[in-house]
Amino acid sequence: MDVREAVLNRWSARRYDPKRLIGEEEFFLLFDSARRAPSSYNTQPWRYIVGLNFDATHGKVLGILTPGNAEWAKDAPLLGLLVGREYYPDGRPYRDYRNDCGMSLMLLFLQATELGLSCRAMGGFYPDRAREIFKIPQGWQPVVAFACGKPAEERREKEKLPFEEIVFREEFGRRWT
Ligand SMILES: Cc1cc2nc3c(=O)[nH]c(=O)nc-3n(C[C@H](O)[C@H](O)[C@H](O)COP(=O)(O)O)c2cc1C
Repeated sequence: MDVREAVLNRWSARRYDPKRLIGEEEFFLLFDSARRAPSSYNTQPWRYIVGLNFDATHGKVLGILTPGNAEWAKDAPLLGLLVGREYYPDGRPYRDYRNDCGMSLMLLFLQATELGLSCRAMGGFYPDRAREIFKIPQGWQPVVAFACGKPAEERREKEKLPFEEIVFREEFGRRWT
């Protein structure tokens, strides 16, 4: 699968097949892709707390999700929490850390697509609970939770904004014609 195909085939499932576990090679491939993302000063502010194939950590990630998300995410064999670093190593605030974390997660999502898996990000989780359960230190923030596995539903393709609405020239809002 080339990049274009992965981009076109990526989508966020909400039903997963709990019997289709994630293999060890797949697991390492997912996170090997995630770790190669660009970041400001190559700081690599992303850390992943991962529950795999319904292990104890899987249950803990499930425990930090809002009820609506936990309801469907329980069947996804991989549940993760992305934690980001708020400061550069020299102590300056790292304004772009969430952006950089997102780039890493996107590489993971595209890699998952090639493997025939789907991933769904979840902002619906309790950060304070996550900090406590996973002993997240000061200077690090829970950014987003996510689920990954084999979809157990037909793809529902989301409508995306057209080129003209998102690409401008000269000034904000001026379209390319
Ligand atoms: C930061 C972020 C937070 C999200 N939070 C949730 C969530 O809490 N629950 C959920 O079901 N989907 C969540 N989503 C998934 C989006 O609803 C989904 O990506 C969007 O509808 C577009 O669909 P697509 O990914 O299939 O293109 C989230 C996505 C992002 C990027």
